[in-house]
Amino acid sequence: MHVSRIIYHARQLLTVAAPPGGGPRRGVQMADSGLIEDGALAIKGEVIVAVGTSAQIMAAYTADDMLDASDCIVLPGFVDPHTHVVWAGDRAAEFDLRIAGASYMQIMQAGGGIVSTVKATRAASIEELVAQTARRLDRMLAHGTTTAEAKTGYGLNLDDEIKMLDAIRILDEDHAIDLVPTFLGAHAVPPEFSGRTDAYVDFLVAEVIPVVADLQYQVVLNAADGGPGYTTYVPAARFCDVFCEHGVFDLAQSERILTAAAEAGMALKLHVDEFAPLGGTPLAVRLGATSVDHLVSTPPDHLALLAQSNTIGVALPGTPFGLGHHEFTPARRLLDLGGALALATDLNPGTCWCESMQFIIALACRFLRLTPAEAICAATLNAAHAIGLGAVVGSLEVGKQADILLLDAPDYRHLGYRFGTNLVQQVIKKGQVVWREE
Ligand code: NIG
Ligand code: FE
Repeated sequence: MHVSRIIYHARQLLTVAAPPGGGPRRGVQMADSGLIEDGALAIKGEVIVAVGTSAQIMAAYTADDMLDASDCIVLPGFVDPHTHVVWAGDRAAEFDLRIAGASYMQIMQAGGGIVSTVKATRAASIEELVAQTARRLDRMLAHGTTTAEAKTGYGLNLDDEIKMLDAIRILDEDHAIDLVPTFLGAHAVPPEFSGRTDAYVDFLVAEVIPVVADLQYQVVLNAADGGPGYTTYVPAARFCDVFCEHGVFDLAQSERILTAAAEAGMALKLHVDEFAPLGGTPLAVRLGATSVDHLVSTPPDHLALLAQSNTIGVALPGTPFGLGHHEFTPARRLLDLGGALALATDLNPGTCWCESMQFIIALACRFLRLTPAEAICAATLNAAHAIGLGAVVGSLEVGKQADILLLDAPDYRHLGYRFGTNLVQQVIKKGQVVWREE
C-alpha cells in the first residue's frame, strides 16, 4: 500500500495504546507505554494507518516521504488538558511579593491575583489577546504540545468572556495546536460583584451560561484542498469549569453553576483541593465531570471515590512548584486505587507560567513519584481523555490523528530524567511537520 509518510527506525516508539476495551489507562496499566524497538509507522493524510517494527512497516508500505528517525524516540504529541493560556499582561510584580512571603490567596484577597489579569485582559483588544497568546502557543508547540485545553476566566462579564472564546476560536483555526475551549466564568468574583458572590453566581446562571452554551462558530471544512468545502458548527465552549476554593466559590455555588451548565449541554470540569478540601472531588464525581483538577489537599476517601469513577484526575505539579509549595497531588495513592491520572501545565500568569509538558513530566517523576512511562501516559492518552478527545489523539494507533513527536534522546526515560532543555527534534501535527529543531 502507498501512503504519504513513513517514519522508521525509531530507536524506541511508544504507542501508549488504549488498554483492552478502550478508555484511559488506569492504575498499573499506566506503566505500559507500548514500547516497540526499531519502531515505525505509516501515515495517510492526517491519520495513522499502521504501527509496528520497521521491518513490518517497510515490507508492507511505500511512501511519498520517508522520515528516518534513527537515534530518536517517537511518541504521541503531548496533550495539555488544563491551561489558562489566553490572557493579557503579566504578574511579575506579584512574584516579588510572593517571594517576600505573601500567599497566593492573600494577594487575591487584596485585589491582586486573577483580578489584576482580568483588568489587563478586559483592556486588551482581541488582536492583542490573540497575538500575546500565539507566542505562548508557539512555545508549547516547540516543546511538544499538539493539543491543548484553553479556559476563559479573565473576562468575567459576558462581552469579555465571549472575547476570550473568540480568541480561542481564532487561535484554534490559525495555529497548529488544536484547542478545546472551556468556559471558566467562575474563576474569580469580578470587582463589580466584590463581596456579592451569590449575586455573581445568579448572574452567571441566568445571563451568561445560557448565552455561552448556545454560542456556536461556523467552520468550513475541507476547503483547503481546493474543493468547495462544507460548513459545520462547533460549540464555543465544550466544557464549563469552576474554581471551587475558600474565598472563591464554595461547594453549593460550584454545584449551582455546574448544574446549570450541564443542563445547558456543556461537559464539566472542576478546580478542587488546590489549597483547601471543600468536597469538590465528590461533587465532580457525582455530577459525572470529565475531569477533576489540582487534587493537592484531597482526603484519601475522596481519592477512593475518584478512583472508582469515570472522572479523570488531573495533576498540575507546576502549580505547587510555581508557588514554592511542598505539597503535591497524592498521585501514587490514586494509581494504587486504580484511578486514571492525567498531567497538565495549568499555564497561567499567577501560579504557573510554564509552556512545557516536558518540565511537568520531570516534576511529576520527582514529586508525584510517577515513573517516566506513567508520566508519559498521563501526558498523552489520559490527557486526551481528560478533554473528551480520547478517541482522536493521545496515542499512536491505527485510525488516530498523526500527532507525533521525535525526541533527540537515546531512551524514553530521558523524558523526566532531564529537565530545563527541550528534547523535541520534530513535531508532526495531522501528518505534517509543523516544528523542527534549528
Ligand atoms: O489553576 N486556580 C485558579 N486558577 C489558576 C490560577 C490563575 C491565576 O492566578 O491567574 C490555577 O492555579
Ligand atoms: Fe487552573
